[in-house]
Amino acid sequence: MTYLSATNSAKIELHLHLEGGAPPAFIRGLAQEKQVDIGGIFDTHGNYKYTDFWDFLRVYEAATQVLQTPQDFHRLTLAVLEESAKSGVIYTEAFLSPDFCGGRDVGAWREYLHAIREAADIAEKIMGITLRGIVTPIRHFGPDKARETAICAAETAGDWIVGLGIGGDEKSGHLSDFAWSFDCAREAGLRLTAHAGEWGGPDSVRSAIQDLKVERIGHGVRAIEDLALVDEIAEKGVVLEVCPGSNVALGLYPSIRKHPINELYKRGVRITVSTDDPPFFHTTMQKEYAALHDAFDWDEAFFDQLAKASLDAAFCDADTKARLHKTLEQAHA
Ligand code: HPA
Ligand code: ZN
Repeated sequence: MTYLSATNSAKIELHLHLEGGAPPAFIRGLAQEKQVDIGGIFDTHGNYKYTDFWDFLRVYEAATQVLQTPQDFHRLTLAVLEESAKSGVIYTEAFLSPDFCGGRDVGAWREYLHAIREAADIAEKIMGITLRGIVTPIRHFGPDKARETAICAAETAGDWIVGLGIGGDEKSGHLSDFAWSFDCAREAGLRLTAHAGEWGGPDSVRSAIQDLKVERIGHGVRAIEDLALVDEIAEKGVVLEVCPGSNVALGLYPSIRKHPINELYKRGVRITVSTDDPPFFHTTMQKEYAALHDAFDWDEAFFDQLAKASLDAAFCDADTKARLHKTLEQAHA
């Protein structure tokens, strides 16, 4: 295999925060247009500036202050998908937050969603990338707001809003505090994922599986600290949305080589690869692939199989999956 062919291959991404994909220049431009003061969130090179995960969350929320209308999210969606498509991504699931889209009001949320979907339709036509949405309660905003968010999700559940997945500060409260929201989403037919096992240890992953009954975990990599749990995850077929570059950028692991993704894979866990918040972490799907190739010698055949397995773990409907599997086959022929 050549290094280039693997990094250029067709990719499936399952863990991307829409606002977290905003190029810093895009946020700066909107701030200027709207005369919004978002504080000193950029470094001298114009990149996002933060010191750790919790400071990252602060900067992230400051950046969202310029995203004020459905039209802003339309533009954001196009800007984010353009970057993903450049990396060879043909399907992505993005976390969308009713908190930032009309303050969890269902009527307002529908308007934001309409604008995001219009942008996604344009991107699909001109860039060949398909987007689906996972509604995201923000953990540190608390269980009450999460309930309102889950109601937004349930009201708009369908072939485009396909899941619910909690994000935010993993150290805030307990995952079981959010069981009502997850039950509500499940009853509306949504598929479930939760951030766990990044800043929380193995117990947080257990709680996501037992208390929220998720079928995928955002990150989940710290399951490696408990091999009985790794076996359980492998046996149950729970999928990990692994974001190696994010974990290294935030200091969870010192390098990709020291990251447990390959070990988890070898132990039979269903792994996928995503970027999380690419400009914040100076990454792209292409960079993730290149780094994994360098660290673990994953080759073209491995990446082709990874894309197929990731699509199998996607929350979209069967027809969309079948169409995209064909695209993958053609791209990898
Ligand atoms: N992790 C958790 N919550 C988030 C993130 C993230 O990377 N991005 C936005 N909210
Ligand atoms: Zn995330």
